[in-house]
Amino acid sequence: MLKRSLLGLVGMVAVAAALATGISSSDAQQPSTGPAPLSAADSAGLKGPRQPIFFRHDIHAGELQMQCQYCHYSVAVSSEPGIPSMQTCMGCHALVAGRDPANQAEIQKLKDAWAAGTPVEWVRIHNVARHVHFPHMRHIKALGDNACATCHGNVARMPQVYQVNNVNNMGFCINCHLERNVTRDCSACHF
Ligand code: HEC
Ligand code: HEC
Ligand code: HEC
Ligand code: HEC
Ligand code: HEC
Repeated sequence: MLKRSLLGLVGMVAVAAALATGISSSDAQQPSTGPAPLSAADSAGLKGPRQPIFFRHDIHAGELQMQCQYCHYSVAVSSEPGIPSMQTCMGCHALVAGRDPANQAEIQKLKDAWAAGTPVEWVRIHNVARHVHFPHMRHIKALGDNACATCHGNVARMPQVYQVNNVNNMGFCINCHLERNVTRDCSACHF
Protein backbone atom coordinates (compact mmCIF):
# COMPACT_ATOMS: atom_id res chain seq x y z
CA MET A 1 0.00 0.00 0.00
CA LEU A 2 1.29 3.46 -0.86
CA LYS A 3 2.20 5.63 2.07
CA ARG A 4 0.01 8.51 1.01
CA SER A 5 1.12 10.66 3.89
CA LEU A 6 4.59 10.81 2.41
CA LEU A 7 3.46 11.72 -1.06
CA GLY A 8 4.18 15.14 -2.42
CA LEU A 9 2.32 16.55 -5.36
CA VAL A 10 4.28 14.40 -7.80
CA GLY A 11 3.12 11.37 -5.85
CA MET A 12 -0.41 12.70 -5.90
CA VAL A 13 -0.36 12.74 -9.65
CA ALA A 14 0.89 9.16 -9.60
CA VAL A 15 -2.01 8.22 -7.32
CA ALA A 16 -4.30 10.10 -9.67
CA ALA A 17 -2.95 8.21 -12.66
CA ALA A 18 -3.23 4.87 -10.83
CA LEU A 19 -6.84 5.59 -9.91
CA ALA A 20 -7.63 6.73 -13.43
CA THR A 21 -6.38 3.47 -14.88
CA GLY A 22 -8.41 1.53 -12.33
CA ILE A 23 -5.60 0.31 -10.10
CA SER A 24 -7.38 1.32 -6.92
CA SER A 25 -6.72 -0.09 -3.48
CA SER A 26 -9.92 -2.13 -3.66
CA ASP A 27 -8.88 -3.72 -6.97
CA ALA A 28 -5.68 -4.75 -5.25
CA GLN A 29 -7.76 -6.58 -2.61
CA GLN A 30 -6.43 -4.43 0.18
CA PRO A 31 -8.54 -2.88 2.92
CA SER A 32 -9.60 0.60 1.95
CA THR A 33 -8.08 3.30 4.14
CA GLY A 34 -10.19 6.09 2.68
CA PRO A 35 -13.25 7.68 4.26
CA ALA A 36 -16.53 5.84 3.74
CA PRO A 37 -18.21 6.31 0.37
CA LEU A 38 -21.04 8.86 0.48
CA SER A 39 -23.36 10.00 -2.28
CA ALA A 40 -24.66 13.50 -2.96
CA ALA A 41 -27.99 12.36 -1.46
CA ASP A 42 -26.19 11.43 1.80
CA SER A 43 -24.81 14.97 1.99
CA ALA A 44 -28.27 16.27 2.95
CA GLY A 45 -27.80 14.57 6.32
CA LEU A 46 -24.43 16.24 6.97
CA LYS A 47 -23.79 19.51 8.78
CA GLY A 48 -23.21 22.57 6.60
CA PRO A 49 -24.88 23.76 3.40
CA ARG A 50 -25.10 21.39 0.44
CA GLN A 51 -22.82 22.39 -2.43
CA PRO A 52 -23.50 22.17 -6.20
CA ILE A 53 -20.84 19.43 -6.33
CA PHE A 54 -20.32 17.21 -3.27
CA PHE A 55 -16.62 18.05 -2.90
CA ARG A 56 -15.08 16.29 0.10
CA HIS A 57 -12.32 17.86 2.21
CA ASP A 58 -11.98 14.58 4.15
CA ILE A 59 -10.81 12.98 0.89
CA HIS A 60 -8.67 15.79 -0.59
CA ALA A 61 -7.17 17.36 2.57
CA GLY A 62 -7.56 14.21 4.74
CA GLU A 63 -6.94 10.97 2.86
CA LEU A 64 -4.86 12.56 0.07
CA GLN A 65 -3.10 15.00 2.44
CA MET A 66 -3.28 17.92 0.05
CA GLN A 67 -2.09 21.17 1.63
CA CYS A 68 -4.82 23.73 2.27
CA GLN A 69 -2.76 26.34 0.41
CA TYR A 70 -2.65 24.25 -2.76
CA CYS A 71 -6.27 25.33 -3.24
CA HIS A 72 -6.66 28.32 -0.89
CA TYR A 73 -3.60 29.79 -2.57
CA SER A 74 -3.71 33.38 -1.25
CA VAL A 75 -4.50 32.76 2.43
CA ALA A 76 -1.00 33.79 3.60
CA VAL A 77 -0.70 36.89 1.41
CA SER A 78 -4.18 38.37 1.13
CA SER A 79 -7.37 39.04 3.09
CA GLU A 80 -9.13 36.58 0.79
CA PRO A 81 -7.93 32.94 1.06
CA GLY A 82 -8.84 32.19 -2.56
CA ILE A 83 -11.19 29.50 -3.90
CA PRO A 84 -9.63 27.16 -6.50
CA SER A 85 -10.60 27.55 -10.13
CA MET A 86 -11.99 24.62 -12.11
CA GLN A 87 -8.65 24.52 -13.89
CA THR A 88 -6.98 23.56 -10.59
CA CYS A 89 -9.47 20.73 -10.16
CA MET A 90 -9.11 19.55 -13.75
CA GLY A 91 -5.34 19.34 -13.30
CA CYS A 92 -6.15 16.02 -11.63
CA HIS A 93 -9.68 15.23 -12.78
CA ALA A 94 -8.82 15.19 -16.46
CA LEU A 95 -7.42 11.79 -15.33
CA VAL A 96 -9.09 10.89 -12.05
CA ALA A 97 -12.59 9.52 -12.67
CA GLY A 98 -13.30 8.08 -9.18
CA ARG A 99 -13.23 4.69 -7.46
CA ASP A 100 -16.96 4.16 -6.90
CA PRO A 101 -20.22 5.26 -8.56
CA ALA A 102 -20.88 7.99 -5.96
CA ASN A 103 -17.50 9.65 -6.54
CA GLN A 104 -17.74 9.14 -10.30
CA ALA A 105 -21.12 10.88 -10.44
CA GLU A 106 -19.79 13.97 -8.62
CA ILE A 107 -16.58 14.11 -10.65
CA GLN A 108 -18.71 13.90 -13.81
CA LYS A 109 -20.57 17.05 -12.66
CA LEU A 110 -17.21 18.83 -12.48
CA LYS A 111 -16.24 17.65 -15.96
CA ASP A 112 -19.62 18.71 -17.38
CA ALA A 113 -19.27 22.19 -15.83
CA TRP A 114 -15.74 22.43 -17.26
CA ALA A 115 -16.88 21.31 -20.71
CA ALA A 116 -19.76 23.81 -20.62
CA GLY A 117 -17.47 26.59 -19.38
CA THR A 118 -19.76 27.36 -16.42
CA PRO A 119 -17.82 27.86 -13.17
CA VAL A 120 -19.14 25.96 -10.15
CA GLU A 121 -20.98 28.35 -7.82
CA TRP A 122 -19.91 27.22 -4.36
CA VAL A 123 -22.16 28.25 -1.50
CA ARG A 124 -20.24 30.53 0.84
CA ILE A 125 -20.23 29.42 4.49
CA HIS A 126 -18.19 31.96 6.50
CA ASN A 127 -19.03 35.53 5.71
CA VAL A 128 -18.58 38.53 8.02
CA ALA A 129 -20.70 41.66 7.59
CA ARG A 130 -19.55 44.23 5.02
CA HIS A 131 -18.52 46.68 7.76
CA VAL A 132 -15.93 44.20 9.13
CA HIS A 133 -12.42 43.68 7.87
CA PHE A 134 -10.81 40.26 8.35
CA PRO A 135 -7.25 39.96 7.02
CA HIS A 136 -6.37 36.25 6.66
CA MET A 137 -2.69 36.94 5.98
CA ARG A 138 -2.16 38.78 9.30
CA HIS A 139 -3.58 35.77 11.16
CA ILE A 140 -1.60 33.16 9.25
CA LYS A 141 1.61 35.13 9.79
CA ALA A 142 0.94 35.38 13.55
CA LEU A 143 -0.67 31.97 14.19
CA GLY A 144 1.15 29.80 11.59
CA ASP A 145 0.32 28.00 8.34
CA ASN A 146 -1.63 25.33 10.21
CA ALA A 147 -3.79 27.73 12.20
CA CYS A 148 -6.85 27.10 10.02
CA ALA A 149 -8.24 24.63 12.57
CA THR A 150 -8.15 27.26 15.33
CA CYS A 151 -11.02 29.06 13.62
CA HIS A 152 -12.43 26.55 11.13
CA GLY A 153 -12.18 23.30 13.10
CA ASN A 154 -10.70 20.14 11.63
CA VAL A 155 -11.76 20.68 8.01
CA ALA A 156 -9.55 17.78 6.86
CA ARG A 157 -12.02 15.45 8.61
CA MET A 158 -15.17 17.04 7.19
CA PRO A 159 -17.01 15.41 4.28
CA GLN A 160 -18.94 18.70 3.98
CA VAL A 161 -17.68 22.00 5.41
CA TYR A 162 -19.67 23.63 8.18
CA GLN A 163 -19.10 26.58 10.48
CA VAL A 164 -17.51 25.52 13.79
CA ASN A 165 -17.17 29.04 15.21
CA ASN A 166 -19.74 31.75 14.64
CA VAL A 167 -17.66 34.39 12.86
CA ASN A 168 -20.62 36.81 12.79
CA ASN A 169 -20.18 37.39 16.49
CA MET A 170 -17.74 40.04 17.66
CA GLY A 171 -16.97 38.05 20.82
CA PHE A 172 -15.25 35.36 18.74
CA CYS A 173 -12.70 37.93 17.54
CA ILE A 174 -12.39 39.95 20.75
CA ASN A 175 -11.81 36.94 23.03
CA CYS A 176 -8.74 35.86 21.11
CA HIS A 177 -7.48 39.41 20.64
CA LEU A 178 -7.75 39.92 24.41
CA GLU A 179 -5.98 36.62 25.13
CA ARG A 180 -3.14 37.45 22.78
CA ASN A 181 -2.98 41.12 23.55
CA VAL A 182 -3.91 42.17 20.02
CA THR A 183 -5.70 45.43 19.27
CA ARG A 184 -9.37 45.90 20.23
CA ASP A 185 -9.58 49.24 18.47
CA CYS A 186 -12.98 49.52 16.80
CA SER A 187 -11.36 50.96 13.69
CA ALA A 188 -8.95 47.99 13.29
CA CYS A 189 -11.91 45.77 12.38
CA HIS A 190 -14.65 48.19 11.37
CA PHE A 191 -14.65 50.39 8.30
C1 HEC B 1 -8.52 20.39 -3.66
C2 HEC B 1 -8.77 21.74 -3.24
C3 HEC B 1 -8.96 22.06 -1.78
C4 HEC B 1 -8.13 21.74 -0.72
C5 HEC B 1 -6.85 20.91 -0.74
C6 HEC B 1 -8.69 22.38 0.44
N1 HEC B 1 -9.84 23.05 0.10
FE1 HEC B 1 -11.03 24.13 1.31
N2 HEC B 1 -12.37 24.43 -0.20
C7 HEC B 1 -12.20 23.99 -1.50
C8 HEC B 1 -13.41 24.28 -2.25
C9 HEC B 1 -13.67 23.95 -3.71
C10 HEC B 1 -14.30 24.92 -1.36
C11 HEC B 1 -15.73 25.41 -1.64
C12 HEC B 1 -16.69 24.25 -1.52
C13 HEC B 1 -16.90 23.77 -0.13
O1 HEC B 1 -17.22 24.57 0.76
O2 HEC B 1 -16.69 22.55 0.11
C14 HEC B 1 -13.61 24.99 -0.08
C15 HEC B 1 -14.15 25.55 1.07
C16 HEC B 1 -13.47 25.70 2.28
C17 HEC B 1 -13.97 26.39 3.44
C18 HEC B 1 -15.33 27.04 3.56
C19 HEC B 1 -15.30 28.36 2.83
C20 HEC B 1 -16.52 29.20 3.08
O3 HEC B 1 -17.33 29.35 2.17
O4 HEC B 1 -16.66 29.70 4.21
C21 HEC B 1 -13.01 26.33 4.40
C22 HEC B 1 -13.08 26.91 5.80
C23 HEC B 1 -11.91 25.57 3.85
N3 HEC B 1 -12.22 25.22 2.56
C24 HEC B 1 -10.76 25.28 4.54
C25 HEC B 1 -9.79 24.39 4.08
C26 HEC B 1 -8.73 23.89 4.90
C27 HEC B 1 -8.49 24.27 6.35
C28 HEC B 1 -7.99 23.04 4.11
C29 HEC B 1 -6.78 22.20 4.52
C30 HEC B 1 -6.98 21.36 5.69
C31 HEC B 1 -8.61 23.02 2.80
N4 HEC B 1 -9.70 23.84 2.83
C32 HEC B 1 -8.15 22.30 1.71
C33 HEC B 1 -11.09 23.37 -2.01
C34 HEC B 1 -10.03 22.87 -1.26
C1 HEC C 1 -4.04 16.69 -6.73
C2 HEC C 1 -5.13 16.02 -7.41
C3 HEC C 1 -6.56 16.52 -7.21
C4 HEC C 1 -7.03 17.82 -7.28
C5 HEC C 1 -6.26 19.09 -7.55
C6 HEC C 1 -8.46 17.72 -7.07
N1 HEC C 1 -8.82 16.43 -6.87
FE1 HEC C 1 -10.71 15.76 -6.58
N2 HEC C 1 -9.98 13.90 -6.22
C7 HEC C 1 -8.67 13.49 -6.42
C8 HEC C 1 -8.56 12.09 -6.09
C9 HEC C 1 -7.30 11.23 -6.18
C10 HEC C 1 -9.85 11.67 -5.68
C11 HEC C 1 -10.29 10.31 -5.20
C12 HEC C 1 -10.94 9.60 -6.37
C13 HEC C 1 -11.54 8.31 -5.94
O1 HEC C 1 -10.80 7.46 -5.48
O2 HEC C 1 -12.76 8.18 -6.08
C14 HEC C 1 -10.73 12.83 -5.82
C15 HEC C 1 -12.10 12.82 -5.58
C16 HEC C 1 -12.97 13.81 -5.96
C17 HEC C 1 -14.41 13.73 -5.93
C18 HEC C 1 -15.21 12.54 -5.46
C19 HEC C 1 -15.12 12.50 -3.94
C20 HEC C 1 -15.56 13.77 -3.34
O3 HEC C 1 -14.70 14.63 -3.04
O4 HEC C 1 -16.77 13.97 -3.26
C21 HEC C 1 -14.90 14.94 -6.34
C22 HEC C 1 -16.34 15.35 -6.50
C23 HEC C 1 -13.75 15.78 -6.63
N3 HEC C 1 -12.62 15.06 -6.39
C24 HEC C 1 -13.84 17.10 -7.04
C25 HEC C 1 -12.76 17.95 -7.08
C26 HEC C 1 -12.87 19.39 -7.24
C27 HEC C 1 -14.15 20.16 -7.39
C28 HEC C 1 -11.59 19.88 -7.23
C29 HEC C 1 -11.15 21.33 -7.30
C30 HEC C 1 -11.72 22.21 -6.30
C31 HEC C 1 -10.69 18.74 -7.07
N4 HEC C 1 -11.44 17.61 -6.96
C32 HEC C 1 -9.31 18.82 -7.07
C33 HEC C 1 -7.63 14.27 -6.82
C34 HEC C 1 -7.69 15.66 -6.95
C1 HEC D 1 -8.40 33.75 13.11
C2 HEC D 1 -9.44 32.97 12.47
C3 HEC D 1 -9.18 32.34 11.13
C4 HEC D 1 -8.09 31.61 10.72
C5 HEC D 1 -6.84 31.25 11.52
C6 HEC D 1 -8.36 31.18 9.36
N1 HEC D 1 -9.57 31.67 8.96
FE1 HEC D 1 -10.48 31.36 7.17
N2 HEC D 1 -12.01 32.59 7.70
C7 HEC D 1 -12.11 33.24 8.90
C8 HEC D 1 -13.18 34.22 8.83
C9 HEC D 1 -13.60 35.17 9.95
C10 HEC D 1 -13.75 34.11 7.53
C11 HEC D 1 -14.84 34.97 6.91
C12 HEC D 1 -14.11 36.15 6.30
C13 HEC D 1 -14.95 37.11 5.53
O1 HEC D 1 -16.15 36.94 5.42
O2 HEC D 1 -14.36 38.09 4.97
C14 HEC D 1 -12.98 33.05 6.85
C15 HEC D 1 -13.24 32.62 5.56
C16 HEC D 1 -12.53 31.60 4.91
C17 HEC D 1 -12.84 31.06 3.61
C18 HEC D 1 -13.99 31.49 2.72
C19 HEC D 1 -13.51 32.59 1.82
C20 HEC D 1 -14.29 32.79 0.57
O3 HEC D 1 -13.85 33.64 -0.24
O4 HEC D 1 -15.30 32.13 0.34
C21 HEC D 1 -11.90 30.09 3.34
C22 HEC D 1 -11.78 29.26 2.08
C23 HEC D 1 -11.00 30.05 4.47
N3 HEC D 1 -11.42 30.98 5.41
C24 HEC D 1 -9.90 29.22 4.54
C25 HEC D 1 -8.93 29.28 5.54
C26 HEC D 1 -7.70 28.50 5.53
C27 HEC D 1 -7.29 27.51 4.45
C28 HEC D 1 -7.02 28.83 6.66
C29 HEC D 1 -5.65 28.34 7.13
C30 HEC D 1 -4.54 28.48 6.17
C31 HEC D 1 -7.84 29.82 7.38
N4 HEC D 1 -8.97 30.07 6.66
C32 HEC D 1 -7.51 30.39 8.62
C33 HEC D 1 -11.33 33.02 10.01
C34 HEC D 1 -10.10 32.37 10.00
C1 HEC E 1 -7.44 32.68 17.41
C2 HEC E 1 -7.11 34.07 17.63
C3 HEC E 1 -7.76 35.14 16.78
C4 HEC E 1 -9.08 35.22 16.37
C5 HEC E 1 -10.21 34.25 16.63
C6 HEC E 1 -9.18 36.43 15.61
N1 HEC E 1 -7.97 37.08 15.57
FE1 HEC E 1 -7.57 38.84 14.61
N2 HEC E 1 -5.63 38.68 15.14
C7 HEC E 1 -5.08 37.68 15.90
C8 HEC E 1 -3.67 37.91 16.06
C9 HEC E 1 -2.68 37.03 16.83
C10 HEC E 1 -3.39 39.12 15.38
C11 HEC E 1 -2.05 39.87 15.33
C12 HEC E 1 -1.41 39.75 14.00
C13 HEC E 1 -0.20 40.65 13.96
O1 HEC E 1 0.44 40.88 14.98
O2 HEC E 1 0.07 41.12 12.88
C14 HEC E 1 -4.64 39.57 14.79
C15 HEC E 1 -4.78 40.71 14.01
C16 HEC E 1 -5.95 41.17 13.49
C17 HEC E 1 -6.09 42.38 12.71
C18 HEC E 1 -4.97 43.35 12.36
C19 HEC E 1 -4.88 44.28 13.51
C20 HEC E 1 -3.90 45.40 13.27
O3 HEC E 1 -3.02 45.58 14.13
O4 HEC E 1 -4.01 46.07 12.25
C21 HEC E 1 -7.42 42.50 12.38
C22 HEC E 1 -8.08 43.60 11.58
C23 HEC E 1 -8.09 41.35 12.95
N3 HEC E 1 -7.18 40.58 13.61
C24 HEC E 1 -9.45 41.10 12.82
C25 HEC E 1 -10.09 39.98 13.33
C26 HEC E 1 -11.50 39.72 13.17
C27 HEC E 1 -12.48 40.61 12.43
C28 HEC E 1 -11.74 38.53 13.78
C29 HEC E 1 -13.06 37.79 13.92
C30 HEC E 1 -13.85 37.59 12.72
C31 HEC E 1 -10.49 38.05 14.33
N4 HEC E 1 -9.51 38.96 14.05
C32 HEC E 1 -10.36 36.88 15.03
C33 HEC E 1 -5.74 36.61 16.45
C34 HEC E 1 -7.08 36.31 16.27
C1 HEC F 1 -11.28 42.15 16.39
C2 HEC F 1 -12.29 42.70 15.52
C3 HEC F 1 -13.34 43.63 16.07
C4 HEC F 1 -13.13 44.71 16.91
C5 HEC F 1 -11.82 45.17 17.50
C6 HEC F 1 -14.41 45.31 17.09
N1 HEC F 1 -15.38 44.62 16.40
FE1 HEC F 1 -17.37 45.09 16.32
N2 HEC F 1 -17.71 43.38 15.22
C7 HEC F 1 -16.75 42.51 14.80
C8 HEC F 1 -17.40 41.41 14.12
C9 HEC F 1 -16.74 40.20 13.48
C10 HEC F 1 -18.78 41.67 14.17
C11 HEC F 1 -19.90 40.79 13.61
C12 HEC F 1 -20.16 41.18 12.18
C13 HEC F 1 -21.15 40.30 11.50
O1 HEC F 1 -22.34 40.34 11.87
O2 HEC F 1 -20.76 39.54 10.59
C14 HEC F 1 -18.94 42.94 14.85
C15 HEC F 1 -20.17 43.55 15.06
C16 HEC F 1 -20.31 44.82 15.61
C17 HEC F 1 -21.55 45.56 15.69
C18 HEC F 1 -22.85 45.09 15.18
C19 HEC F 1 -23.46 44.28 16.25
C20 HEC F 1 -24.45 43.35 15.72
O3 HEC F 1 -25.18 42.80 16.54
O4 HEC F 1 -24.45 43.13 14.51
C21 HEC F 1 -21.28 46.74 16.31
C22 HEC F 1 -22.28 47.86 16.62
C23 HEC F 1 -19.87 46.75 16.62
N3 HEC F 1 -19.31 45.59 16.18
C24 HEC F 1 -19.22 47.77 17.25
C25 HEC F 1 -17.90 47.76 17.67
C26 HEC F 1 -17.28 48.79 18.51
C27 HEC F 1 -17.98 50.04 19.02
C28 HEC F 1 -15.99 48.40 18.69
C29 HEC F 1 -14.90 49.08 19.53
C30 HEC F 1 -15.24 49.23 20.93
C31 HEC F 1 -15.81 47.14 17.97
N4 HEC F 1 -17.00 46.80 17.37
C32 HEC F 1 -14.61 46.44 17.88
C33 HEC F 1 -15.40 42.63 14.98
C34 HEC F 1 -14.77 43.58 15.77
